[in-house]
Amino acid sequence: MTKDKLLDARPDDDQYDITLRPRSLAEYIGQQQVLDNLSILLEAARRRDEPVEHVLLCGPPGLGKTTLAHIIANELGVAIKVSSGPAIDHQGALGSILLNLSTRDVFFIDEIHRLNTVVEESLYPALEDFRFDAVLGKGVGASAATLPLPHFTCVGATTRQGLLSGPLRDRFGAVYRLDFYTKAELEKIVGRSARILDIEIHDDAVSEIARRARGTPRIANRLLRRVRDYAQVRGDGRATVDTTRLALEMLDVDEIGLEPLDRQLLHTVIVKFKGGPVGLDTLATSLSEEPETIEDVHEPYLIQIGFLARTARGRVATELAYRHIGIAPPQPESQQTRLL
Ligand code: ADE
Repeated sequence: MTKDKLLDARPDDDQYDITLRPRSLAEYIGQQQVLDNLSILLEAARRRDEPVEHVLLCGPPGLGKTTLAHIIANELGVAIKVSSGPAIDHQGALGSILLNLSTRDVFFIDEIHRLNTVVEESLYPALEDFRFDAVLGKGVGASAATLPLPHFTCVGATTRQGLLSGPLRDRFGAVYRLDFYTKAELEKIVGRSARILDIEIHDDAVSEIARRARGTPRIANRLLRRVRDYAQVRGDGRATVDTTRLALEMLDVDEIGLEPLDRQLLHTVIVKFKGGPVGLDTLATSLSEEPETIEDVHEPYLIQIGFLARTARGRVATELAYRHIGIAPPQPESQQTRLL
């Protein structure tokens, strides 16, 4: 499945994310360092009565990049225009967004690493000098015109900072990296979401969801909604820890939050490729998945919890991964024998 399809397969997320999304920095839970830096950036611009410099947000999906872009606009009291790298597929599409911005508006570009080169290059003067070099007309009669733009703030989001070209990255005055959330932070988020959605949930059930949310608020909120469904259909509507465990078991989410594809990935590296190293493309083919889905969606958390290591020669499963899958890790002697 491609990453887009994967995200599309869960259409309810966006709708619910909007209901649950914090709207101000004060409401936001976690990412303390990013929040501290961001609040200084916003406050300093406010005191100088200047537009905020362009902001780049990096990190795995579901950690709050879109939410922060909306918060920036909200805190500044300006409008936000939302688009994405793949959606802005030609220069005219970029021009029509830019030319409709008002002064200090936020222009949010999700998946900014997926802009094509032509569009990316016409974004440079817009970001740097607030001008848009338009091509008017077509063919031999075409002419160029430089159009002034209002001083806006671009907020770019990317799951892959490494894929961003140097010139694009350099045009962002502030670059923030979002990290996976702690269990305590996720518990607060689940508790807050349960209150907003009016779900009666026990503390140990909140804890159970937080433990299985792979450090990701979007996943925590999705699991919470599925637990609510289960509690309503199979129970009395209250989310107890037992109902929660049964609901998550039915969803095939294991005790540390891994889903079938995560476990299949580890199983493939361990069994088919003898623990690795295995290249990303080979691994993706084995799993019938897109390499980007593996790299952006599944690997970051497996690496974070120390189940997978990325080496120059490919992906390697660690001893922790062997234990989790229930296969004895190779003994140091036999590894030596293999190397000989
Ligand atoms: N809902 C989703 N992410 C959140 C966050 N970081 N803080 C509060 N509520 C959230």
